[in-house]
Amino acid sequence: MPETWWRSGVIYQIYPRSFQDTNGDGVGDLEGVRQRLDYLVWLGVDVLWLSPFYPSPMKDFGYDVADYGNVDPLFGGLEDFDRLLTEAHERGLRIIIDLVPNHTSDQHPWFLASRHSRSDPKRDWYLWRDPAPGGGPPNNWLSHFGGSGWTWDEATQQYYYHAFLREQPDLNWRNPQVRAAIHEIMRFWLRRGVDGFRVDVISHLIKDDLFRDNPPNPDWRGHGPDITRLTQLYSANRPELHEIIGELRRVIDAFPDRVLIGEVYLPIDQLVAYYGAQNDGLHFPFNFHLLQTPWRADALGALITRYEAALPLDAQPNWVLGNHDQRRVAGRLGEAQARIAAMLLLTLRGTPTLYYGDELGIGDIIIPEDRQRDPWGRREAAFNVSRDPARTPMQWNDTIYAGFSTHEPWLPLTADHALRNVATLRSDAHSILSLHKNLLALRRRCKALHSGDCRPLDAQEQILAYERYDDRERIFILLNLGADPTHVPLPADGRLLLSTQGDRTNDSIEGAVRLRGDEGVIITASPSS
Ligand code: NOJ
Repeated sequence: MPETWWRSGVIYQIYPRSFQDTNGDGVGDLEGVRQRLDYLVWLGVDVLWLSPFYPSPMKDFGYDVADYGNVDPLFGGLEDFDRLLTEAHERGLRIIIDLVPNHTSDQHPWFLASRHSRSDPKRDWYLWRDPAPGGGPPNNWLSHFGGSGWTWDEATQQYYYHAFLREQPDLNWRNPQVRAAIHEIMRFWLRRGVDGFRVDVISHLIKDDLFRDNPPNPDWRGHGPDITRLTQLYSANRPELHEIIGELRRVIDAFPDRVLIGEVYLPIDQLVAYYGAQNDGLHFPFNFHLLQTPWRADALGALITRYEAALPLDAQPNWVLGNHDQRRVAGRLGEAQARIAAMLLLTLRGTPTLYYGDELGIGDIIIPEDRQRDPWGRREAAFNVSRDPARTPMQWNDTIYAGFSTHEPWLPLTADHALRNVATLRSDAHSILSLHKNLLALRRRCKALHSGDCRPLDAQEQILAYERYDDRERIFILLNLGADPTHVPLPADGRLLLSTQGDRTNDSIEGAVRLRGDEGVIITASPSS
């Protein structure tokens, strides 16, 4: 495979509200991202993915878009975006942006027109339905944030569908004008120079044309967020979707060297269909399975084997450890295993996506009720689903607001921000931040790591072991997922390149390596072996 940037590079997700505030309102902005570009170059990532910065009523913090072709004043203006993009490109960084085509804000002019009257030309741009024969919502589809997915519109006497908040009505992707309008928006940003898109909830775009009821979830245990009661059989992941994705891909392919990535939470066998039958779908659907697999060597080893085996020929693998919707990796695993997770993410075959702040090992935070912001967390508080803990401000230094802002931030900082911040961790060669920097540098330097093949190595129970190799180099990755030290035999002698604990570099390894508890190491095989 040719070494293209989105195959060999590392993606870093920035949640713009929380990266760097430059105008003192407690919310991050695009100018803030620009001012931190040198940090990102220092860290060694290649591609920035920016979560939405478009004009929005912010009911779902920007995933409710009221104008696809502009920047919300909270984040700056189009000129700030252009400057950020230019300066990122000057530093060799790529920028991909979030495309949210499944739904708009209820304040988007398209929806305002659509709900204005049944005869409005934009009526059919959204999913309007009469009540069920006996009254009530047209079917049993649920909102991902709880309750029915249908909202009654008193003025026009019909329901409209929204997979998320009622303020996020779903577009009707069976309408060719909707498709054309979103294609035009893509071209608008591609012409501006963006390097690609991460497409929000792409598997939801098209729904069953008969609007059949979703069946009950056979695994439902009588407790949990509302959406888990039903299987989303008819409201998402429909067969017609792949034609629509093919069209998005053709829009992208008219511009050289861009990428199309989709957000898809599905089992592996269904996930791989999103590459398209002829590699004419997404360049890759995000693979979230590291987030969903029990943190054990056997389970992770099996996942890697299953995923690799399911990938279509030439399809680009990818791995994700965190994002703005998921619990922080260090909160879930603790810092010692978060280091192992970083080594895993950055040595697996395929494109890694790193979430801002995970390089600092930001962990859990309990947010007082009066500071909670996530609409889902507030609606279904009983199930602890709030996404706020994953969205707290980036921690730059040990000043009062951690260098993020001069004002109380929109979400609180974690309790240990005075110690866990870029300035402090950068000067510690053994910190989790230095580990990320070293891993990123090694990955970039070493072709076997960023573009080589991968095969599993035999190892004991608590060890996840694999080899990355090409025609010139063999690299062994050994990860101790347990707290006990252990000896791991190796197929060849070599030299230790990196330990998750930041020491032992250049140790020579003969026959076997001794791993401390919670330690991961990368070893390069001696050229002769
Ligand atoms: C997925 C996004 O990642 C999430 O943050 C958002 O709430 C939903 N899509 C709805 O747009």
